[in-house]
Amino acid sequence: MKKLSDERLLELGLNPKLMPAHVAIIMDGNGRWAKKHGALRSIGHRAGVNRLREIIRFSSDAGISALTLYAFSTENWKRPDSELAVLFGLLIEYFNGEIDELDENEVCIRAIGELSAFPDEVRSAVENAEARTRRNKGLKLNIALNYGAQLEILRAVRALCKSAIESGELPTQADFENALYTAGLPELDLLIRTSGEMRLSNYLLYQAAYAELYFTEVLWPDFTKSEYIRAIAEFQRRNRRFGGVE
Ligand code: IPE
Ligand code: IPE
Ligand code: MG
Repeated sequence: MKKLSDERLLELGLNPKLMPAHVAIIMDGNGRWAKKHGALRSIGHRAGVNRLREIIRFSSDAGISALTLYAFSTENWKRPDSELAVLFGLLIEYFNGEIDELDENEVCIRAIGELSAFPDEVRSAVENAEARTRRNKGLKLNIALNYGAQLEILRAVRALCKSAIESGELPTQADFENALYTAGLPELDLLIRTSGEMRLSNYLLYQAAYAELYFTEVLWPDFTKSEYIRAIAEFQRRNRRFGGVE
């Protein structure tokens, strides 16, 4: 829930009237961060998880309504089993460990992606967090897990084909958007990617149509609240025309 006053946001260099409603983050660079510190990749992933609290907290306090985080892509199954095991272990630990605080802060957690592919323990930690926070009215925190935009679109098309066959009616744009995982969320305003890569890696391809893109060299484990504020301030300086004129 919004805790920061407009005065406080202004002190932080943010315009309270131009806050993004929906922010998405491609949290990239854990492996490179580990390498830079002469540590194992698993240490980088842990450092990445430790970044979450501050970023989620600030989103909630600043009154951002939705935050959609890329935690595991449909392509990440290509990683060695040992790394997958580390990632799954961290997911379980994260959901079980943070749930109380997230719940207290009225955060509503939802996973987007094909959860069925994960081991039972991961699935139940995520589903438990979803169930406990379902009625919360604060920040909508969406965690993309085994998410891929191409699969999301294909899944929507298949569902719409089925209902079109049954009803004999063709779907509208609204029907299509309602068949995506992001149904009901505000339009995506700002998409951040850390670690210097300039690609979307199969993230929110439909939803990013008019999102402002922000790329930073900063590696995810170093993405502090002040880096986040810098990204939002840059977003607020952009001139969004949506195809029109000023
Ligand atoms: C992002 O960090 C975390 C996941 C994709 C799960 P990476 O593990 O991709 O880090 P780099 O890109 O190797 O530095
Ligand atoms: C994107 O990062 C996925 C997540 C951050 C979860 P990757 O590290 O998997 O992306 P590529 O391989 O560099 O495109
Ligand atoms: Mg990466």
